[in-house]
Amino acid sequence: MPTPTTATETRITSASAPERIQQHRRYLMCRPEHFTVSYTINPWMEPANPTDTAKAVRQWQTLYDLYVSLGHEVHLIDPIPGLPDMVYTANGGFLIDGTAYGARFRYEQRMPEGPAFMDWFRANGFEVAEPLETNEGEGDFLLAGDVILAGTGFRSTDASHRELRELFGREVLSLTLIDPRFYHLDTALSVLDPVQGPGGVERANIAYLPHAFDERSQQLLAERFPDAIQVSDADGAVFGLNSASDGRNVIISPRATGFEAQLRERGYVPHLVDLSELLLGGGGIKCCTLELRR
Ligand code: ARG
Repeated sequence: MPTPTTATETRITSASAPERIQQHRRYLMCRPEHFTVSYTINPWMEPANPTDTAKAVRQWQTLYDLYVSLGHEVHLIDPIPGLPDMVYTANGGFLIDGTAYGARFRYEQRMPEGPAFMDWFRANGFEVAEPLETNEGEGDFLLAGDVILAGTGFRSTDASHRELRELFGREVLSLTLIDPRFYHLDTALSVLDPVQGPGGVERANIAYLPHAFDERSQQLLAERFPDAIQVSDADGAVFGLNSASDGRNVIISPRATGFEAQLRERGYVPHLVDLSELLLGGGGIKCCTLELRR
């Protein structure tokens, strides 16, 4: 039973917040059977720190089970020995309307993942566009209503943003990341209501960490998303934004307590899933989740 104070607060906030509508999602995940940290390609990875693969699998399973219990469809790609980062399926590509823009990884340790994911997309009925430019899929590209938000600065290049624009014919808004801890867009920005409504343009709700972006990008975000949730540095630093939303349920790290409260105030339903083991590789909830849009 919640304390009376909490119950009252909950009633007040939920009464003033809009009702959020859950949308069905189709995800691709990869069981972290070969997860470890054996190299360093982001500031979170420290090969000297021990990793516990069984624990990573248990934590990952909690996320998988939650998606299924929420009614989502979760597909699996077989993990490949020697590719410990394959659990971060968000980097495997970017998919809209049945077309998959394949990934071309920045670092050689992950390069073989690109073709492995493209094979899976082909085998599962997606049209595959092989990338010429370096890009790390949904780690850096997020669909926000009608516009694709695209990160650059560390992994995906400006040239990949052009390639993406030509391929999908949609507006691509380039955003520059400047803090090495937030090296993929999905570590600094989260789309809460990513799907466009029937018959028209919809402005998506997003949350982001302003300091992860350069001045120009901060200005752009403020102009285009005036109602966005801006999270605190503390919540950003625990990968609070590396979250997955179905429009109503938002899966976040239990450490992001401020973000959790901001979500509740706006009528979302936060679910807390701890992926501490996968954070040792510099990834969280969103990194382990690729959306398959048909
Ligand atoms: N170790 C992986 C890398 O540095 C982590 C990827 C996290 N993925 C993400 N979508 N942010 O590439």
